[in-house]
Amino acid sequence: MIRLGVNIDHVATLRNARGGNHPDPLTVAKALVGSGMDGITIHLREDRRHIRDADAEAVCAWAGKPVNFEMAATAEMVAIAARLKPRGCCVVPERRAEITTEGGLDVANHRDQLRPAVARLKDAGIRVSLFVDPAPEQVEAAAEIGAQVVELHTGAYANGRLGEMERLCAAAELTARLGLECHAGHGLTFANVSPVAALPQVTELNIGHYLIGEAILTGLPAAIAEMKRLMIEARMR
Ligand code: PXP
Repeated sequence: MIRLGVNIDHVATLRNARGGNHPDPLTVAKALVGSGMDGITIHLREDRRHIRDADAEAVCAWAGKPVNFEMAATAEMVAIAARLKPRGCCVVPERRAEITTEGGLDVANHRDQLRPAVARLKDAGIRVSLFVDPAPEQVEAAAEIGAQVVELHTGAYANGRLGEMERLCAAAELTARLGLECHAGHGLTFANVSPVAALPQVTELNIGHYLIGEAILTGLPAAIAEMKRLMIEARMR
């Protein structure tokens, strides 16, 4: 069956907006057990804009579900991952000014920089994934430098770019043919997930932003009802 990795970065975004510890990413991760979530994804960015080191430590130390640790291929991040030993690492490109991970990793033109990071993570017993655009040269390069998994960037598909579903389909087939596991993610929603989830080679989808937004719509009425109940109860004492 296909697995769902839930990216909880934006739980930390919300927590950080107030500087306290609510909502706490680890508490949320634990609360998601039993919901259909098969794994937790966190991205420790160089600028620590959402997930922080203490979150990464706590989530990786928790053994409730497999952790997918997204990171740039820097010496600092490789050292942190090797110490925290998540189940998997997904190496992503990172630019300071970007709002989210805007494109895939250019593996084809950076093989020599990426190869040692992949090797070091694998030596630490971590399953290594590379986040790439659905382009054959990127998938082939990922296989060539030793990645065990390719995560296909679905951002252009989610933005409605013409021909993108065909590119995803071909890249997923190539990934499987080369003996790698195929994941996909970015920009997936209730409205666009089905064609990607139907690709037979895709074993895991990683989804974050939309789920957190949708959770406000579905969860806020219940939170308001509980607050109102407490208020009325206080008046009746
Ligand atoms: N996969 C990777 C590698 C990502 O970097 C992201 C965004 O952090 C996602 C999946 C999830 O994207 P979204 O938040 O748009 O669902």
